[in-house]
Amino acid sequence: MTWDARAYDRDFAFVSAYGAELLDWLKPQPGETVIDLGCGTGELAARIAAAGATVIGIDSDPAMIEAARKRLPDADLRVADAHDFAVEQPVDAVFSNAALHWMPSSVEVLGCVSDALRPGGRFVAEMGATGNVATVTAAVEQACREAGLAERSWPWSFPSPAQYAAMLEDAGFELRELDFRDRPTRLTGREGFVGWLRMFAGSAVSDVPPEVLDRAAEIARPVLWHDRAWWADYRRLRFRAVKVS
Ligand code: BEZ
Repeated sequence: MTWDARAYDRDFAFVSAYGAELLDWLKPQPGETVIDLGCGTGELAARIAAAGATVIGIDSDPAMIEAARKRLPDADLRVADAHDFAVEQPVDAVFSNAALHWMPSSVEVLGCVSDALRPGGRFVAEMGATGNVATVTAAVEQACREAGLAERSWPWSFPSPAQYAAMLEDAGFELRELDFRDRPTRLTGREGFVGWLRMFAGSAVSDVPPEVLDRAAEIARPVLWHDRAWWADYRRLRFRAVKVS
C-alpha cells in the first residue's frame, strides 16, 4: 500500500498524538539506538531523536520515508519490509506505533525484530487488537451486501492479547507489560468516517461506489457519531517485551 503522506499528516495526526503516550513506555535514553518500525512520516521518530537516542526509521512506503526525511534530514531512514529487514549492529530497542497490524506475518516480523535487538533489548509497540474497528468494518460489509458487492477482504490482522503474547514468547521475548483496551478514537480528518476508510482501508474499498460508503456511514452513525464527531471503535494492544533468547 502507498500513502498520501501529506494528507496523513494533515488529517490523521491523531495516530502520532496517541503514539506519543507509547514513548512513555519506551523511555528512550541518550546514547541508545532505537528502530522505529513503520515510522511513517517520522513524527515519533523525531521525538525519539529529541530524547537523545539515535533513531533508525524503517517504513515500506517510499512516500512516507521521503516525508520523514524532510522532518529528520540527518537520520538513518530506510525503505524496507518489516518482514525482511536487518541492521548492521544490534540495537537497544525497537519501537512501533499503529503499524504491526498491517504486516501479514507476525512470526516473520518478530524474527527480524529479535535479530535486530541486543540481548536484553526491548520491543515496545502498540497495534490494533482483536475487535478493532469492528463497527466500521461491519457497517461497510452490510452496505456492500445491500448493494450486491463482493465480500470485503480487509488488509489488517488484529490479534488477541493471548495470541500475540504467545508469538512474542516463541520469538524469544519475555513480556513485561501488556495493556488491552478500547480506545474510541476521534476521526479528526475533514471527511470523517468515509475519509478514514479511504485513507486506511484503500484496497478494501477501492471498488465501492461513494453512495455505498455513505450508506455505510449511515449504518455506523448511531454508534460512532457522538459529541459532534466520528469516533472509530479502536481497540489497542500495547506491550513492552524484552529479548531474552
Ligand atoms: C489502527 O491503528 O488500529 C488502524 C489504523 C488503520 C486501519 C486499521 C486500524
